[in-house]
Amino acid sequence: MAGPTKGRRPSPLIDRKDSLALLTIRTYEAKDEEYVKSLLFAHARSQIWPAVKFFTFRNMQEWLILFVLFKLYVSFVELLIIFGLFVIWLFIRAKWEFESYIYTSCHDLDDIDNIYLKETGSHFWVAEVPLPSAASHLKSKPSQHGHSEDEDRMIVGCIAVTPSVEEPRRVAQVMRLVVAQQSRRMRVGTSMLKELEAFCLKGGFEEIRFWANNLRPEAIRFYESNGYEILSIHQRNLMRGDLVLLRRLLAGTKSDLSPSLRHADSTF
Ligand SMILES: CC(C)(COP(=O)(O)OP(=O)(O)OC[C@H]1O[C@@H](n2cnc3c(N)ncnc32)[C@H](O)[C@@H]1OP(=O)(O)O)[C@@H](O)C(=O)NCCC(=O)NCCS
Repeated sequence: MAGPTKGRRPSPLIDRKDSLALLTIRTYEAKDEEYVKSLLFAHARSQIWPAVKFFTFRNMQEWLILFVLFKLYVSFVELLIIFGLFVIWLFIRAKWEFESYIYTSCHDLDDIDNIYLKETGSHFWVAEVPLPSAASHLKSKPSQHGHSEDEDRMIVGCIAVTPSVEEPRRVAQVMRLVVAQQSRRMRVGTSMLKELEAFCLKGGFEEIRFWANNLRPEAIRFYESNGYEILSIHQRNLMRGDLVLLRRLLAGTKSDLSPSLRHADSTF
């Protein structure tokens, strides 16, 4: 399979119209570990350039002032070299942040069975589609695209839920939601979320919450289109963006958010 083409959306592995009919959402099994990790880590690493962009736009005023000050003392070419080197530094810093995140904050993925599948109120699902014959040569590259052990289906997404730390009986928290790049906008994410919501409703939860960063607005748009509302935005001093807390109240619970917060601008 050809890698992503610049400037174009990569061609989907399944037709949009077939996606729901062919999609299976099932409980995680031990054999999925490598694929789930590669999906989640690839997503973390895909945010390095968006993080550089986010940092640059957030500090645009300082960039402009530096630009003017430097321009007084150095030539335009020297100025470009200095800013080029600074962008490289930002890239290294963002890469370091995401690699540290993978190294220090993803230990739950080493023990999904115990952490999500044996605990009440927790679960971990994967989304699978049949492996298209046209893409069968992908079989030699399992680290990039998740194949089931039987090699005729592949994992295109994952999602998990766990009771929240603050209110474990009432509030469930969505974790580890990612859809493979080639399978986005085909309702894979929505289907997994619906499965999770049915699980939460059955488990007696009243509310579902989710923390997202604002490096890519698509996650916020995805949640809003699925009926979630922004609860709060937490600025943090990292290149990994701000943290946005979203929530959805399950059947019968009324929102207590002020209208201004409910309609907060989420396009960033
Ligand atoms: C966010 C994510 C899970 C969405 O999954 P998906 O399967 O592509 O989403 P769906 O096809 O179910 O989209 C449902 C709706 O959400 C909205 N939406 C999803 N992706 C969007 C995008 N890139 N831009 C604008 N709206 C989007 C649309 O309203 C869409 O409906 P439509 O396609 O009929 O317009 C996926 O983009 C992803 O994995 N992103 C990277 C990981 C991530 O951000 N995880 C969550 C937070 S860290």
